[in-house]
Formats: sequence, structure tokens, C-alpha cells
Amino acid sequence: MTLPPVITIDGPSGVGKGTVMLRLAAHLGWHTLDSGALYRVLACAAQARKFSLDDEPALAELALNLDVQFIPDTASGETRVILDGVEVSSQLRTETTAKAASQVAVFPAVRTALLARQHAFRQVPGLIADGRDMGTVVFPDATFKIFMTASAEERAQRRYKQLKEKGIDANIESLTAEIAQRDQRDSSRSAAPLKAAPDALVIDTTGISIEQVVAQILTAISAQI
Ligand code: C5P
Repeated sequence: MTLPPVITIDGPSGVGKGTVMLRLAAHLGWHTLDSGALYRVLACAAQARKFSLDDEPALAELALNLDVQFIPDTASGETRVILDGVEVSSQLRTETTAKAASQVAVFPAVRTALLARQHAFRQVPGLIADGRDMGTVVFPDATFKIFMTASAEERAQRRYKQLKEKGIDANIESLTAEIAQRDQRDSSRSAAPLKAAPDALVIDTTGISIEQVVAQILTAISAQI
């Protein structure tokens, strides 16, 4: 049985993976997987239950049984996230949640528990998946793999702008420090660290627009999709 095609987009925080994923999905008419949202939801669920963010077995059990729904809102392009019947979309976007997500994401048992859930997003006509380990661990057989990078300063600026646009209070100095800390944790962990798959197309997006990045990817994938 041939599985539907997958395009993976990995890279550090604030590099624009989510925006590029949505543009590509609109162009190709494919499904999307924001894998970071799963780690963020898990962190929120753990905090709501007052679990310690160090308790690997409890977190893995919670990850297996998460009652979460992703509801795409075609009008806004945003996805509403419902956890245990309650909308948590805005709570998910905060840097506090991002930090907690990167803490629960270090545990191998947690990552394994979320694998089947991620694989289930692979539906016809195709999937675009963004995260840290999409091309290396979750979809190693992906049709096309992209790894996006950008300077730390530019990523902090982009994230700052994004948060402000969503009406979320942000401070550029603390954002830069938080992003650096999260990247360090994501890159240095032993389970599925942030890194480019050997067969990924690496795109340094520093100083280039989203439109240019999308155009570059569409040209590169046109021969294979
Ligand atoms: O991409 P996003 O910023 O939403 O991810 C939040 C955190 O979830 C990351 O900093 C990372 O620790 C974790 N994550 C991960 N693997 C993924 C996606 C996200 O470990 N595939």
C-alpha cells in the first residue's frame, strides 16, 4: 500500500515554518500537522492536572490519552484547539506554554506516545508537517524534506511581530532569551534533537521574505510532487 505523500518542514522556533506550511498547504490543497501544538497541548494538560513536568511516565500516559481536537478555521487560516472540551487556542500560543512544551518534549516515552497521533495526520491527498523531528524521526520516508534556519535575532523579531499581531504582550529582550534557551534545549536533548535530516533541503531565510521562501520550495518540489 502506498502511503500519501508528506512534505516535512523542520527548524528552530520563530523561523516561519508554520506560515510556510500554511502557504504550501493552500497551494497544494494538502492537510497540515503543527506537531509543536501537540507538545504544547500536552504541557497545558499536564499543568491543568498539576503534574510535574519531570514525571516522564505520567506525561507519556497523558500523551497517549489526550482528548484533543484540531478544528481548522478556513476563514482565518488558524486552527482552533480543543482540549478536554475546552478551547485552549490562545493559551497554546504563549511563551510560557512553549517553554513547558520543550520541557515535556525531552522525554523519549512522551515522544513515542505522540507518534501514532502524528502518523494519523497522513491522509490523502498529502500532508505538510512542521516541527523539529518531522524529517528525521516521525516521517523519515517523507517525499520532500525542508530544514529552515534564520539568525537568532531575526527569529526573535519575527516571533515578536507575530505575538503582537495576535494581541499577545511580548518583550523583545526576554523573547530573544527564551527562544535561545528553547533552541538550546531542543538541539541538545538526546531524543529526536532538532537537526536537519541528511536528505533535507536547507534554506537560510535570513533577510528573505516568506513569498521568496515559498517560491523556492515550490520550484524545488515541482520535480518530485
Ligand atoms: O513549534 P513550537 O514552537 O510550537 O514547539 C514548541 C516546542 O515543542 C518546541 O520548542 C519543542 O521543544 C517541542 N517540539 C518538539 N518536536 C516537534 C515539535 C515541537 O520537540 N516536532
